[in-house]
Amino acid sequence: MAEHPAAYTVDPARIEGVVDQPLFAAVAEEARERGIPAFAIGGHVRDLLIGRPSKDIDFVVEGDGIGFAQAVARRLGNEPVHVFKNFGTAMFTLRQAQGDMRQAQGDMRQAQGDMRQARGDIQVEFVGARKESYSRNSRKPEVEPGTIHDDQLRRDFTINALAISLNAGSMGALVDPFGGLLDLDRGLLRTPLDPDITFSDDPLRMMRAVRFATQLGFTIDPSTFKAIGRNAQRLDIISAERIHTELNKIILSSRPSIGFILLRDTGLLAHFFPEFLELQGAEEKYGIGHKDNFYHTLQVLDNVCAASDDLWLRWAAVLHDIAKPRTKRFDPEHGWTFHGHEDKGARMVPGIFRRLKLPLDDQMRFVQKLVALHLRPIALTKDEVTDSAVRRLLFDAGDDIDALMILCRADITSKNERKKDRYLRNYDLVLRKLAEVEEKDRVRNFQPPITGQDVMMAFGVGPSKLIGDIKTVIKDAILDGHIANDRSQAWQLMLETGRKLGHPPVAGMETPIAEQPQR
Ligand code: CTP
Repeated sequence: MAEHPAAYTVDPARIEGVVDQPLFAAVAEEARERGIPAFAIGGHVRDLLIGRPSKDIDFVVEGDGIGFAQAVARRLGNEPVHVFKNFGTAMFTLRQAQGDMRQAQGDMRQAQGDMRQARGDIQVEFVGARKESYSRNSRKPEVEPGTIHDDQLRRDFTINALAISLNAGSMGALVDPFGGLLDLDRGLLRTPLDPDITFSDDPLRMMRAVRFATQLGFTIDPSTFKAIGRNAQRLDIISAERIHTELNKIILSSRPSIGFILLRDTGLLAHFFPEFLELQGAEEKYGIGHKDNFYHTLQVLDNVCAASDDLWLRWAAVLHDIAKPRTKRFDPEHGWTFHGHEDKGARMVPGIFRRLKLPLDDQMRFVQKLVALHLRPIALTKDEVTDSAVRRLLFDAGDDIDALMILCRADITSKNERKKDRYLRNYDLVLRKLAEVEEKDRVRNFQPPITGQDVMMAFGVGPSKLIGDIKTVIKDAILDGHIANDRSQAWQLMLETGRKLGHPPVAGMETPIAEQPQR
């Protein structure tokens, strides 16, 4: 288990004055009138203490959470309230103008990027404090009303069980029965109860432990860590959607490698992403080794994360070498080879996305495309970087060329400085060539200058194979630089090709006619 310095400083003074904000004041007033205790709790309290932006605020009341939420929303003129009867919760969206959250989040102003999120609407949720006991014969928890302490005990980590009192006599005080503040300060994730109980209540919490460790740079307490190992197989009862939500949060953090290593070391990864685990290991034969593709992939992923926030580009990094284990061969002449891993990898993407219930639409196709093309820019540099190869790359990548180049740059991880320098110089050369060719030939979003309709009119034919043949010849001639990406040159080539294939043009068609719509 790796030690990570906590990325945040804790300052209890940050919660001072929170109770004066309109939302908190309304909750306190309602609690006073009803004579029942109310508390702010969970992630928002944690984030306030470490000066991290957060969108959602949870309140717990010792009584009816739904009725309480409705009354608070009425006080604030902030209806409607959405009620989830089955869960005993109710929530409403606090529009930012209603309560100036920013005032209480002094340090958050520094986190410019994150402020965009904080400026948005805030989800406010209320729940009645519960005591939960799981009956041995049934998976369904038996829920009974409880105290704030009962409720805190049932939460996932001590740092997420911190509460702020909104009650006369202790207004604004931190309610911290399990040393959550200390854990926050030393960067420790620890369950309030015996971790076996906490994780068996909701096995997703094991993923959450890794996610918080990655996002916050925290360490998982050894006994909590061991319990994850013991309970890892219980992840099998958790839906793929909930799992991928946590995995995506890990991938969206600034150093996802921390999370993937923890997922492996806890045994969780094997339960939902075995292909990634297969990347592990560096085999050696006759003194010839290859790199460990697990660590290589993580380095590429971290590199991509330093350059882009895009989740799907990050996923492309995760999957770029995924087929290496399945294409690995030892060739006495060339050593270890992974021929075709980019195509096989692209073909593996849908299966992995389907299993994890990730989107199967454009985002998946983008990931597939990048996996399929990830060797192309670097392969270019092995030979002379010709305009035609660059044009073909631009044609194949289209608008995704910039993302592809970020992935390729991130993929240069050689420890051999000389090799690395050479790759980087070549990479820069490809970048320059791409810009040059793009400016000159505009093939990034290539639209053929000759349409099928043109071919039919020029040769007096109906829909036929001739159209495809001629369009391919023209596309290749443009990409190979034999003709410019220009209608009149393409027209001449069309006539020439038609004649060669036994189709003389119709009279009057020797020069381009007005552009015809694409068929
Ligand atoms: N919680 C829990 N077990 C879970 C999910 C949530 O005990 N499986 C509790 C924690 O106290 C948590 C609170 O519910 O702080 C709110 O959950 P959620 O909004 O999912 O997480 P946050 O801690 O707010 O963190 P983030 O917003 O980053 O997801």
